[in-house]
Amino acid sequence: MRIHVVDHPLVAHKLTTLRDKRTDSPTFRRLADELVTLLAYEGTRDVRTEPVDIETPVKPTTGVRLSHPRPLVVPILRAGLGMLDGMMRLLPTAEVGFLGMVRDEETLKASTYSTRMPSDLSGRQVYVVDPMLATGGTLVAAIKELMSRGADDVTALCLLAAPEGVAVMERELAGAPVRVVTSSLDEGLNEYGYIVPGLGDAGDRMYG
Ligand code: PRP
Repeated sequence: MRIHVVDHPLVAHKLTTLRDKRTDSPTFRRLADELVTLLAYEGTRDVRTEPVDIETPVKPTTGVRLSHPRPLVVPILRAGLGMLDGMMRLLPTAEVGFLGMVRDEETLKASTYSTRMPSDLSGRQVYVVDPMLATGGTLVAAIKELMSRGADDVTALCLLAAPEGVAVMERELAGAPVRVVTSSLDEGLNEYGYIVPGLGDAGDRMYG
Protein backbone atom coordinates (compact mmCIF):
# COMPACT_ATOMS: atom_id res chain seq x y z
CA MET A 1 0.00 0.00 0.00
CA ARG A 2 1.42 3.35 -1.06
CA ILE A 3 0.13 6.86 -0.44
CA HIS A 4 0.75 9.88 -2.61
CA VAL A 5 -0.18 13.38 -1.45
CA VAL A 6 -0.51 15.66 -4.46
CA ASP A 7 1.48 18.79 -3.73
CA HIS A 8 0.27 21.46 -6.16
CA PRO A 9 -0.86 25.05 -5.57
CA LEU A 10 -4.07 24.62 -7.61
CA VAL A 11 -4.99 21.55 -5.56
CA ALA A 12 -4.32 23.43 -2.32
CA HIS A 13 -6.35 26.42 -3.54
CA LYS A 14 -9.42 24.38 -4.49
CA LEU A 15 -9.19 22.32 -1.31
CA THR A 16 -9.13 25.47 0.81
CA THR A 17 -12.44 26.62 -0.69
CA LEU A 18 -13.91 23.12 -0.22
CA ARG A 19 -12.98 23.21 3.45
CA ASP A 20 -14.57 26.63 4.00
CA LYS A 21 -17.92 26.15 5.74
CA ARG A 22 -19.35 29.13 3.82
CA THR A 23 -18.98 27.28 0.48
CA ASP A 24 -22.47 26.33 -0.75
CA SER A 25 -23.43 22.94 -2.25
CA PRO A 26 -23.30 23.91 -5.95
CA THR A 27 -19.82 25.40 -5.50
CA PHE A 28 -18.73 22.42 -3.40
CA ARG A 29 -19.81 19.97 -6.12
CA ARG A 30 -18.07 21.99 -8.85
CA LEU A 31 -14.82 22.23 -6.90
CA ALA A 32 -14.85 18.53 -5.96
CA ASP A 33 -15.29 17.78 -9.67
CA GLU A 34 -12.36 20.01 -10.62
CA LEU A 35 -10.17 18.62 -7.86
CA VAL A 36 -10.73 15.01 -8.85
CA THR A 37 -9.49 15.78 -12.35
CA LEU A 38 -6.21 16.99 -10.86
CA LEU A 39 -5.96 13.96 -8.55
CA ALA A 40 -6.84 11.63 -11.42
CA TYR A 41 -4.04 13.08 -13.54
CA GLU A 42 -1.62 11.87 -10.86
CA GLY A 43 -3.57 8.73 -9.99
CA THR A 44 -3.62 7.42 -13.56
CA ARG A 45 0.14 7.75 -14.00
CA ASP A 46 0.40 3.92 -14.07
CA VAL A 47 -2.65 3.26 -16.22
CA ARG A 48 -1.80 0.44 -18.62
CA THR A 49 -1.33 1.29 -22.26
CA GLU A 50 -0.31 -0.57 -25.38
CA PRO A 51 1.43 0.69 -28.52
CA VAL A 52 -0.65 1.69 -31.52
CA ASP A 53 0.50 2.62 -35.01
CA ILE A 54 -0.99 5.74 -36.54
CA GLU A 55 -0.22 8.14 -39.36
CA THR A 56 0.01 11.85 -38.74
CA PRO A 57 -0.50 14.17 -41.73
CA VAL A 58 3.31 14.11 -41.98
CA LYS A 59 4.41 10.49 -41.37
CA PRO A 60 3.59 7.18 -39.69
CA THR A 61 4.40 6.98 -35.99
CA THR A 62 3.70 4.89 -32.93
CA GLY A 63 1.60 6.16 -30.02
CA VAL A 64 -0.29 4.50 -27.17
CA ARG A 65 -3.87 3.64 -26.32
CA LEU A 66 -5.42 2.29 -23.14
CA SER A 67 -4.96 -1.47 -22.83
CA HIS A 68 -7.70 -4.05 -22.65
CA PRO A 69 -9.38 -5.02 -20.41
CA ARG A 70 -10.69 -1.51 -19.78
CA PRO A 71 -10.10 0.09 -16.37
CA LEU A 72 -13.00 0.07 -13.94
CA VAL A 73 -14.03 3.18 -12.00
CA VAL A 74 -15.92 2.56 -8.74
CA PRO A 75 -17.53 5.48 -6.90
CA ILE A 76 -18.49 4.69 -3.31
CA LEU A 77 -22.00 6.04 -2.85
CA ARG A 78 -23.08 8.48 -1.94
CA ALA A 79 -20.29 11.07 -1.79
CA GLY A 80 -18.10 9.25 -4.33
CA LEU A 81 -20.69 10.03 -7.01
CA GLY A 82 -19.51 13.63 -6.89
CA MET A 83 -16.11 12.44 -8.13
CA LEU A 84 -17.30 10.19 -10.95
CA ASP A 85 -17.70 12.71 -13.78
CA GLY A 86 -14.24 14.19 -13.24
CA MET A 87 -12.73 10.72 -13.35
CA MET A 88 -14.64 9.76 -16.51
CA ARG A 89 -13.41 12.86 -18.30
CA LEU A 90 -9.90 11.44 -18.06
CA LEU A 91 -10.89 7.80 -18.68
CA PRO A 92 -13.94 8.13 -20.97
CA THR A 93 -13.82 4.48 -22.08
CA ALA A 94 -13.66 3.09 -18.53
CA GLU A 95 -16.39 0.81 -17.22
CA VAL A 96 -18.20 1.94 -14.07
CA GLY A 97 -19.15 -0.21 -11.09
CA PHE A 98 -21.02 0.98 -8.02
CA LEU A 99 -20.58 0.29 -4.31
CA GLY A 100 -23.12 1.70 -1.86
CA MET A 101 -21.57 1.88 1.60
CA VAL A 102 -22.44 3.76 4.75
CA ARG A 103 -20.62 4.27 8.01
CA ASP A 104 -22.60 3.89 11.23
CA GLU A 105 -22.31 7.25 12.99
CA GLU A 106 -22.10 5.58 16.44
CA THR A 107 -19.83 2.58 15.89
CA LEU A 108 -18.03 4.06 12.82
CA LYS A 109 -18.28 0.60 11.21
CA ALA A 110 -18.86 0.55 7.45
CA SER A 111 -21.54 -1.62 5.87
CA THR A 112 -22.41 -2.30 2.23
CA TYR A 113 -26.01 -1.75 1.07
CA SER A 114 -25.55 -2.08 -2.68
CA THR A 115 -23.08 -3.68 -5.06
CA ARG A 116 -23.19 -3.48 -8.86
CA MET A 117 -19.87 -4.57 -10.34
CA PRO A 118 -18.52 -7.18 -12.75
CA SER A 119 -18.05 -10.47 -10.87
CA ASP A 120 -14.67 -11.13 -12.52
CA LEU A 121 -12.11 -8.35 -12.23
CA SER A 122 -9.11 -10.51 -13.11
CA GLY A 123 -6.38 -8.42 -14.65
CA ARG A 124 -8.37 -5.20 -14.29
CA GLN A 125 -7.04 -1.90 -13.01
CA VAL A 126 -9.58 -0.34 -10.67
CA TYR A 127 -9.96 3.29 -9.61
CA VAL A 128 -12.04 3.81 -6.47
CA VAL A 129 -13.30 7.31 -5.78
CA ASP A 130 -14.46 8.43 -2.34
CA PRO A 131 -13.86 11.92 -0.94
CA MET A 132 -12.94 10.87 2.61
CA LEU A 133 -10.53 8.32 4.04
CA ALA A 134 -11.33 8.69 7.76
CA THR A 135 -11.06 5.51 9.91
CA GLY A 136 -10.33 3.56 6.72
CA GLY A 137 -13.09 1.00 7.36
CA THR A 138 -15.00 1.90 4.19
CA LEU A 139 -12.03 1.83 1.84
CA VAL A 140 -10.51 -1.34 3.30
CA ALA A 141 -13.83 -3.20 2.90
CA ALA A 142 -14.29 -1.82 -0.63
CA ILE A 143 -10.79 -2.80 -1.75
CA LYS A 144 -11.04 -6.28 -0.20
CA GLU A 145 -14.26 -6.78 -2.16
CA LEU A 146 -12.53 -5.69 -5.39
CA MET A 147 -9.56 -7.97 -4.76
CA SER A 148 -11.83 -10.91 -3.93
CA ARG A 149 -13.15 -10.47 -7.50
CA GLY A 150 -9.63 -10.62 -8.92
CA ALA A 151 -8.60 -6.95 -9.20
CA ASP A 152 -4.81 -6.85 -9.22
CA ASP A 153 -4.16 -3.11 -9.16
CA VAL A 154 -6.30 -0.66 -7.17
CA THR A 155 -5.92 3.10 -6.91
CA ALA A 156 -8.12 5.03 -4.47
CA LEU A 157 -8.61 8.74 -5.06
CA CYS A 158 -9.64 10.63 -1.93
CA LEU A 159 -9.98 14.37 -1.48
CA LEU A 160 -8.82 14.03 2.13
CA ALA A 161 -7.15 11.36 4.23
CA ALA A 162 -6.55 10.97 7.98
CA PRO A 163 -3.34 9.36 9.26
CA GLU A 164 -5.43 6.90 11.32
CA GLY A 165 -7.16 5.62 8.17
CA VAL A 166 -3.90 5.38 6.27
CA ALA A 167 -2.43 3.30 9.13
CA VAL A 168 -5.42 0.93 9.04
CA MET A 169 -5.02 0.53 5.29
CA GLU A 170 -1.31 -0.15 5.65
CA ARG A 171 -2.08 -2.83 8.24
CA GLU A 172 -5.05 -4.45 6.47
CA LEU A 173 -3.69 -4.24 2.95
CA ALA A 174 0.01 -4.77 3.66
CA GLY A 175 1.81 -5.83 0.51
CA ALA A 176 -1.28 -5.42 -1.65
CA PRO A 177 -1.01 -3.57 -4.99
CA VAL A 178 -2.92 -0.56 -3.68
CA ARG A 179 -2.24 3.18 -4.01
CA VAL A 180 -4.01 6.07 -2.33
CA VAL A 181 -3.84 9.46 -4.01
CA THR A 182 -5.10 12.37 -1.97
CA SER A 183 -4.90 16.15 -1.87
CA SER A 184 -4.13 16.25 1.86
CA LEU A 185 -3.10 14.11 4.80
CA ASP A 186 -4.89 15.99 7.57
CA GLU A 187 -4.14 16.18 11.31
CA GLY A 188 -6.34 13.31 12.47
CA LEU A 189 -9.84 12.30 13.58
CA ASN A 190 -12.00 13.85 16.28
CA GLU A 191 -14.13 11.84 18.76
CA TYR A 192 -16.96 11.61 16.18
CA GLY A 193 -14.68 10.11 13.53
CA TYR A 194 -14.58 13.32 11.48
CA ILE A 195 -11.36 14.34 9.75
CA VAL A 196 -9.73 17.40 11.40
CA PRO A 197 -9.56 20.08 10.10
CA GLY A 198 -11.34 18.25 7.25
CA LEU A 199 -14.29 19.68 5.38
CA GLY A 200 -17.24 18.27 7.34
CA ASP A 201 -19.50 15.55 5.92
CA ALA A 202 -18.76 15.41 2.18
CA GLY A 203 -22.01 13.58 1.38
CA ASP A 204 -24.11 16.17 3.20
CA ARG A 205 -22.23 19.07 1.66
CA MET A 206 -22.74 17.63 -1.84
CA TYR A 207 -26.23 16.22 -1.60
CA GLY A 208 -27.71 17.05 1.80
C1 PRP B 1 -18.23 8.88 4.34
C2 PRP B 1 -17.18 9.01 3.23
C3 PRP B 1 -16.57 7.63 3.19
C4 PRP B 1 -16.64 7.19 4.63
C5 PRP B 1 -15.29 7.35 5.24
O1 PRP B 1 -19.36 8.29 3.81
O2 PRP B 1 -17.72 9.42 2.01
O3 PRP B 1 -17.30 6.73 2.36
O4 PRP B 1 -17.59 8.03 5.29
O5 PRP B 1 -15.28 6.89 6.55
P1 PRP B 1 -14.31 5.77 7.09
O6 PRP B 1 -12.97 5.94 6.46
O7 PRP B 1 -14.28 6.05 8.57
O8 PRP B 1 -14.94 4.45 6.79
P2 PRP B 1 -20.71 8.14 4.66
O9 PRP B 1 -20.72 6.82 5.40
O10 PRP B 1 -20.94 9.37 5.49
O11 PRP B 1 -21.81 7.98 3.53
P3 PRP B 1 -22.31 9.03 2.42
O12 PRP B 1 -21.24 9.09 1.37
O13 PRP B 1 -23.56 8.39 1.93
O14 PRP B 1 -22.55 10.36 3.08
